[in-house]
Amino acid sequence: MNRLRCLKLIHFATVIVSIHISIAHAQYGPPRDDGGFQKHSKEKVELGQLLFFDKILSGNKNISCASCHHPLNGTADGLPLGIGEGGTGMGPSRALNGVTAAGFNYKKRIPRNAPALFNLGHKDFQTMFHDGRVQINTRHASGFTTPAGNQTPRGLESPLAAQAMFPVTSADEMAGEPGSNPVADAAEAKRFTGPDGVWELLASRIRAIPEYVSLFHKAYPGKFSAVNQITMVDIANAIAAFESSTWRADNSPFDRFMAGEADCFSKQAREGLVLFLGKGQCSSCHAGRFQTDHRFHAIAMPQIGPGKGDGSAGNHDYGRERVTGRESDRYKFRTPSLRNVALTAPYGHCGAYYDLKTTIKHHLNPASAISEFNPAYTRVPNTNTLTGHDMALMQNSEEVRNMVSRSEIRQIPLTDEEVDKIVEFLYCLTDPKSFNMLNQIPHRVPSGLPITD
Ligand code: HEC
Ligand code: HEC
Repeated sequence: MNRLRCLKLIHFATVIVSIHISIAHAQYGPPRDDGGFQKHSKEKVELGQLLFFDKILSGNKNISCASCHHPLNGTADGLPLGIGEGGTGMGPSRALNGVTAAGFNYKKRIPRNAPALFNLGHKDFQTMFHDGRVQINTRHASGFTTPAGNQTPRGLESPLAAQAMFPVTSADEMAGEPGSNPVADAAEAKRFTGPDGVWELLASRIRAIPEYVSLFHKAYPGKFSAVNQITMVDIANAIAAFESSTWRADNSPFDRFMAGEADCFSKQAREGLVLFLGKGQCSSCHAGRFQTDHRFHAIAMPQIGPGKGDGSAGNHDYGRERVTGRESDRYKFRTPSLRNVALTAPYGHCGAYYDLKTTIKHHLNPASAISEFNPAYTRVPNTNTLTGHDMALMQNSEEVRNMVSRSEIRQIPLTDEEVDKIVEFLYCLTDPKSFNMLNQIPHRVPSGLPITD
């Protein structure tokens, strides 16, 4: 190739790249947004880390936030649906009564997939949970809509902090079976506030540990004149500070590409980005800096496991409708962010798809994906217990057909090769910092309870 032709080609390639960058810029705004993340002191973050890993916050002192959101499993648990309170171990080796996750009955699991917790401290994330049941709401005295309604306290610093008040109130997640401990009984009675409510019972446990008291004084200088002023709100704010600071993950090749470093994106990934923004229509929902519009959409993701009590057999999950009461919200779930998505399999609100390619292919034609859904996609051996909807009856079930008919996507015409390019682009949303999160695990916690089992 002569030199001139070579230069022309380079020029052409540069023009194409800059067009891509400007399309992407129009979609995503400027690169990394330091101002979008609240700043927290080291002391508060370290306190939050200990609380996140401490089983003292569960009714029976046998499960912590980290049991389901672990750094070694991409801040989730690596399972389609987790095993909650009463289980031991983490991730795929988690077990209950000697039965490991692989063999554990799906009908007895936590009904939704444990999401990864990356970037949730950014101010754009105003809505928490697959159905958005915790949400900023300035008309509410607490500043938030939550499942606790009027019992929601003031002083919560962010949606992440508001969220952290709730795993401890769930029997399956952290509170335990009614009858097994006072926290569980309070949770069962929906008694969150007051001297015998869930939050005060847990805060009093924390206050009884001198090491925690001294850490709270350091994390909130001058705030407490008496120990009993330390409440669950302070606990939740510290946990949120830890999650927000530790799991910020916005320094991926994509962010560098957006900042003008064209080299860190392969040709394949660049083509993937263009498909993501254009023909694939992905960015109509996976919009903005974090690839989510923070809204709710119906795309008929397969539902497995026990469900949330909806539908004729109780094994469906109506998603957003459960919060708003509007039938038009049936089967709608919040668009997930796609940051670090390569590290957070399995996918969907029930974790029904094991890999990215199958997940994307579901989007291309939800109706045919549901009729062909093979429980083996989840890669668990005991498929006979897998089904929330009876998969064998899937094509014939009116309720499942109804779910499919509500899908906002009918068909997206992408070839197999194009899907591969999009997968390549999604890999570029991985912050290399998140490859090794071992240093986020404390060596011990102030309660002295074990961390790893
Ligand atoms: C038994 C497993 C389990 C435990 C323990 C647990 N979680 Fe979760 N977490 C989940 C599941 C499942 C969801 C999704 C639930 C839903 O959307 O209905 C979730 C959702 C979340 C979310 C919302 C993420 C988002 O993108 O909306 C945050 C934040 C979170 N958990 C933090 C915590 C914290 C903090 C604790 C401890 C106080 C905790 N979790 C304990 C399983 C667990
Ligand atoms: C109509 C809105 C919409 C469009 C268009 C869309 N998605 Fe989604 N996507 C969603 C919603 C909503 C979910 C979560 C659904 C659920 O869990 O039930 C999701 C889930 C995903 C997930 C799983 C993420 C996780 O953490 O579980 C991936 C990956 C994904 N989408 C990629 C894509 C790609 C690639 C495209 C373009 C080909 C695309 N999406 C187009 C709304 C959309």
